[in-house]
Amino acid sequence: MNGIPLRWQVRERREIAYDVIKAPQLFHPDNAALLSLGRRDGGRRFVVVDNNVARLHGRAIRSYFAHHGIEAGIAVFPGGEEHKTIEVYQELLRELDAFPIHRRDEPIIAIGGGVLTDVAGFVAASYRRSVPHIKVPTTLMGYIDAALGIKAGINFNGNKNRLGSFEPPLAVFLDKSFLRTLPHRHLLNGMCEIIKLAIIRDVALFELLEAHGAESVAACFANPAGDDILDRAIGGMLDELAPNLYEEQLSRKVDFGHTFSYGLETRHEDRLLHGEAVLLDILVSIFIAVHRGLLPEDDAGRVFALVERLGIKPDLGVLGTEVMWQSLLDRIEHRNGLQRVPMPAGLGQCVFLNNIARRELETAVLALHARLKATHEPACER
Ligand SMILES: NC(=O)c1ccc[n+]([C@@H]2O[C@H](COP(=O)([O-])OP(=O)(O)OC[C@H]3O[C@@H](n4cnc5c(N)ncnc54)[C@H](O)[C@@H]3O)[C@@H](O)[C@H]2O)c1
Repeated sequence: MNGIPLRWQVRERREIAYDVIKAPQLFHPDNAALLSLGRRDGGRRFVVVDNNVARLHGRAIRSYFAHHGIEAGIAVFPGGEEHKTIEVYQELLRELDAFPIHRRDEPIIAIGGGVLTDVAGFVAASYRRSVPHIKVPTTLMGYIDAALGIKAGINFNGNKNRLGSFEPPLAVFLDKSFLRTLPHRHLLNGMCEIIKLAIIRDVALFELLEAHGAESVAACFANPAGDDILDRAIGGMLDELAPNLYEEQLSRKVDFGHTFSYGLETRHEDRLLHGEAVLLDILVSIFIAVHRGLLPEDDAGRVFALVERLGIKPDLGVLGTEVMWQSLLDRIEHRNGLQRVPMPAGLGQCVFLNNIARRELETAVLALHARLKATHEPACER
């Protein structure tokens, strides 16, 4: 058409490159790792800190920035799923707006559990259409899962993570000394995600958990075997996440335990932690896998024995076929029209199912009820 263009093309590839770095004693005054990214001549940092972390570690964090001549605007933010809201997100944005930072060389620093890094990550992704951020996980859940990838978000309109972003951090710094102050329930909560990875992709990790899981929880992972477990879990998680950061591929092994749990944790937010809901989903899935002949009974027995050895007591009271079925229906939308439910085919192996029936789910829920009731009843009543 005589030189009149019919279309213009825009193509851009954004390279994603960040390190997940083991950083013991991250807030020791002599440790400059955290400040190695961003401007070197002091300046300012907006630091978002979980309220319990601020209570237990706040003095060290404040003195660290003061020692390095950084003006830190510290925003203390309550952890817990009930605070993963649009209101908290907006409040943080207002605090950030009142503490101006350079747009490129004064990264936001997020120090806390999965709730905090998810919300602060979304703040960073949306403020001025994206400013850099650094994540410092302080819970086991954050350490082996939530802080490792590029997803951030908040709950919205009764749905988990309904608003959010894919935004890579500049780096993730892992200082496992934070785990020393983490309540036992939250250590077990993170363990549930490690169990997930072990069942669906890594039988050697499962064996490590069988041999040293309980001892590692008791030691808050300060023992050598605890290191092995963390290293394997982090390496395995990153192997799964890194080639699929934007989730173009929707059949994801790491979604094992994240189909029926979604509805459970949304409905019972006051009662279930994320990992606890994931474990219930895993155990129901184990029965589906056994009934389909995918998973040998012996392997299922090992999963239940491990859960018991770790001292995890799944909350049977929340199990319900209807809420779990609705959850699966929502996941079908999320997974672009197919169930894509990861299922163990032997320990350490995964297949994806697209034809789970409501009746099948119901049978598995009843079987789990029966199994756990039998385990938890006192021997004389059996
Ligand atoms: N972005 C992702 O890819 C991803 C992956 C997995 C989970 N998540 C999200 O992570 C969230 C759950 O994270 P979580 O389990 O860390 O919960 P959380 O952030 O609410 O932290 C749990 C509790 O531990 C406290 N705490 C944190 N660090 C502590 C420490 N060192 N010592 C003492 N107390 C401490 C917090 O104040 C809170 O009460 C969920 O919202 C889930 O959706 C995100």
